[in-house]
Amino acid sequence: AELVVNASGGRQIPETFFGIFFEEINHAGAGGLWAELVSNRGFEAVRQNKSLNIHPWSLIGDESSIIVSTDRSSCFKRNKIALRMEVLCDGDTCPVGRVGVYNPGFWGMDIKQGKIYKIVFYLRSLTSVNISVSLTSSDGLRTLANTNLIASAGDVSNWTKMETLLEAEETNPNARLQLKTSKKGVMWIDQVSAIPLDTYKSHGFRNDLSEMIANLKPRFLRFPGGNFVGGDLLRNAFRWKDTVGPWEERPGHFNDAWNYWTDDGLGYFEFLQLSEDLGALPIWVFNNGMSNLGREKASNVSLFVQEALEGIEFAIGDPSSKWGSVRAAMRHPKPFDLRYVAVGNEECYSMEKNAYKENYPKFYDMIKRYYPNIKVISNCDESVDQLDHPTDLYDFHIYTNASDLFSKAHHFDHTSRSGPKVFVSEYAVSGKDGGTGSLLAALGEAGFLVGLERNSDVVAMVCYAPLFVNVHDRSWNPDAIVFNSNQAYGTPSYWLQHFFTDTSGAMLLNTTLLTNSSTPILASAIAQWNSNDNMCFLKVKVFPSCS
Ligand code: AHR
Repeated sequence: AELVVNASGGRQIPETFFGIFFEEINHAGAGGLWAELVSNRGFEAVRQNKSLNIHPWSLIGDESSIIVSTDRSSCFKRNKIALRMEVLCDGDTCPVGRVGVYNPGFWGMDIKQGKIYKIVFYLRSLTSVNISVSLTSSDGLRTLANTNLIASAGDVSNWTKMETLLEAEETNPNARLQLKTSKKGVMWIDQVSAIPLDTYKSHGFRNDLSEMIANLKPRFLRFPGGNFVGGDLLRNAFRWKDTVGPWEERPGHFNDAWNYWTDDGLGYFEFLQLSEDLGALPIWVFNNGMSNLGREKASNVSLFVQEALEGIEFAIGDPSSKWGSVRAAMRHPKPFDLRYVAVGNEECYSMEKNAYKENYPKFYDMIKRYYPNIKVISNCDESVDQLDHPTDLYDFHIYTNASDLFSKAHHFDHTSRSGPKVFVSEYAVSGKDGGTGSLLAALGEAGFLVGLERNSDVVAMVCYAPLFVNVHDRSWNPDAIVFNSNQAYGTPSYWLQHFFTDTSGAMLLNTTLLTNSSTPILASAIAQWNSNDNMCFLKVKVFPSCS
């Protein structure tokens, strides 16, 4: 085959063409990108009133030396559950020196020699305390870092914040945090956090995973889901107001779409911050008063409209405005660069399409009234049905086999150029072809992306899904980045995206492919000016069909 490239002329691909989509799925954030090491830090993951289920916290000691339960005595109004620890032994009578609790994090904490970890917890006690705070091996036998916190009864008779820095003397990727004592008495513990001091741009994100996404040079970040946005039940939906402000005060919620608890340390503010740190435009997908696929509908949609407007105010409002001031109090007085919002996720793909279409204008009209510059995204796919409502962009989601996705390179060839733009906000080769990541999947995706480049006059934005998977919670396969507590790698689909990073903003050149082959081949050529070395580089991509 021969590719004739016309190096003069062409058409510019949008600057914001390639981005990423982060969803709280597969422990992507809790136990992943968010560097908090403690799992269930506020004991709220306990299903209400099952007092002894404090998973993954465990006891150090036996029934004759320590009794642990939970009650609703916390000082934090929105997360009332606290751990009650009654120590029955004293001094030498305590088994193995001291008794207490430990937290193994999300399948082991990654502790590195020489690194410093900030430990915070809240404490109330009826007596004076002497608590050993340590990071240890998974069996508790090797101490990696340790300190003793001592306080008089008067100091801790009311809830008190305890804080210490621990420097690790050894490396262990499967460590745990221990809180132990050998003093008889009753104490309450709540909101326990252990986080490395060294995080991406000092904003709480795990360095290695952040570097991997930064290397994709994403021009936008779509967040926080996916099905995570709606929740299977509306009461488990992501509601942004519960995820901002001091971390201790956030209630956390059960991510019933993907079946795990999240403390919401990675909340709306942090997503906006991450976008800024990556140089990516935030794209906020907000809950539109429906749970996943519209299974449950809010009786009062106007509350959700109000919530969406207030969320926009939080992101871009003046620091003196009601919600802008909450952002400013989080040390970000400058507005974030929020330009896009999406009205829900996939409800228009569902049986509840009509209910979505009924609600949508309520959001659209109010957003345009108060924030005319914000671009609104509908999830009704106009490439299938002509839209009956106004929108700036519409979502297109596709998960299919490799040869089908390859052939979808032509899907937008005849899409109307006068209507709204397309946002390919979730795509992947999945099923048998995708496995847990495969070259075949990447090849199918490559063909699709070449087609999107060629249709980038109507396709404005593209991102793969899902972005992350923790090897201990593979709810969805394949994914772009696979990780455990201390290691990460990119699947072929990750490296394919990497290969396309130069596309955003490049010049798409006119090409003619001359071939006698019966195998479908897709090709494109882009030219990109590199101001660093004052040179123009040309990238030609040629992919044969994988079928
Ligand atoms: O990316 C995984 C899931 O696929 C998303 O949560 C949902 O939007 C889609 O169905």
